[in-house]
Amino acid sequence: MRSYLSKMVTSTQLPEREERAEHIADAGYNVFNLSSSDVFIDLLTDSGTGTMSDEQWAALFRGDEAYAGSSSFEALEDAVKSVMGFEHVVPAHQGRGAENVLYGTLFESDDVVPNNTHFDTTRAHVANAGAEPVDCPVDGAMDPDASGDFKGNLDIDAVRSLVEDRGAASVPAIILTITNNSAAGQPVSVENTRKASDLADELDVPLVIDACRFAENAYFVTQREPGYEDATVAEVAREQLSYADALVMSAKKDGITNIGGFVAVRDPELFERVKQRAILYEGFSTYGGMAGRDIEALAVGLQEAVEDEYVAQRIGQTQELGERLAAAGAPIYQPLGGHAVYLDAEALLSHLPLAKYPGQALVVELYREGGVRGVELGSFAFPDTDRPELVRLALPRRRYHREHLDHIVETVTAVMEHAESVPGYEVVWEPPRKELRHFSAELEPV
Ligand code: F0G
Repeated sequence: MRSYLSKMVTSTQLPEREERAEHIADAGYNVFNLSSSDVFIDLLTDSGTGTMSDEQWAALFRGDEAYAGSSSFEALEDAVKSVMGFEHVVPAHQGRGAENVLYGTLFESDDVVPNNTHFDTTRAHVANAGAEPVDCPVDGAMDPDASGDFKGNLDIDAVRSLVEDRGAASVPAIILTITNNSAAGQPVSVENTRKASDLADELDVPLVIDACRFAENAYFVTQREPGYEDATVAEVAREQLSYADALVMSAKKDGITNIGGFVAVRDPELFERVKQRAILYEGFSTYGGMAGRDIEALAVGLQEAVEDEYVAQRIGQTQELGERLAAAGAPIYQPLGGHAVYLDAEALLSHLPLAKYPGQALVVELYREGGVRGVELGSFAFPDTDRPELVRLALPRRRYHREHLDHIVETVTAVMEHAESVPGYEVVWEPPRKELRHFSAELEPV
């Protein structure tokens, strides 16, 4: 049962079947080109799409829009200190802004940067700083059927081999992404975090945590990691982040805001350097591209994100959707992750070869069948990489109800029933930067 009530509502309606077919054709069979008013249930992302609480809305009015030294910034500093244990904070307009600020400060050309798995923007910012991003996920992370409580972990031995191969001097930091978004939202254990921190200490480099889903990760630890059964989410989060030397945060996830992010560091000297780069790219170091009111709402959201009841319900909703889809016979990535259910499109549309983009075909069909918008994270989004053909159904925080889950399950079931008639697709136009093509490429059924 939810522990909160709706106070403001927004109307939504399912367009007629023929309209949906028209909309998706007009969108070039790419759901990023759809108008959100034509989408009935929007599972494109959990980023910036959550519902703020009345406390957060109230906080907006306290927003101090002073260019420098605003009281809203002080509220954020207090929240980051109490929830995450970091003294030095530099706001950024969103997660990738924070990545640009920190990674542009830390990395140089010819560096090589290990991460359990780089999220797309992380990979791009590491590369943009001239360094080479290297994924070091544990065995089974990319296998939808492998079991494991912490499939999001970093493969510590793989990082050691990388250091041996390339020389310790070329590894400027270790990054840990919690939860591991590019590995189906799988959690990272505290034990793994501690080992990553020990290795970073050995190499005398910072351990950076991409903390955008830190509270969800902490919840999994309370459920799965021996020794943490009686800990609160807030306690686990504090401990897990205590092993990091720096954080990058997209506040659009576990900050429960619609925009924002920040960098947090311990070392005063690094703090100075980060501030200088933030001024260049984001804005003065006490607002960093955010309005004071949004900073104020973030200060409240961070504290709400670690409330046990909230996180249990949040993850519980994802688990419920996944379990119901599995019970209906849908092939899904197991175990279920934190912010999304990932459908295995290659298994669901087994008549389509990879060359015909079964993942994108499934995304299109979910929209045509039920006005549900998911996103492909397989061969269309990541051309020329060896990843499972997954379709992500990400649940925005505090937005949808059980009735919406009913509709999602009915939609997936209906698609499974006529799976064999679902056509494959070909890409008919793509932008020059192929790595970013899923945002704007156009397709046609074949
Ligand atoms: N790191 C991770 C692990 C993320 O999942 C994201 C965003 C970012 C960094 C970048 O943050 O969007 O605020 O600039 N993930 C969103 C998603 C876009 O849909 O998974 P941002």
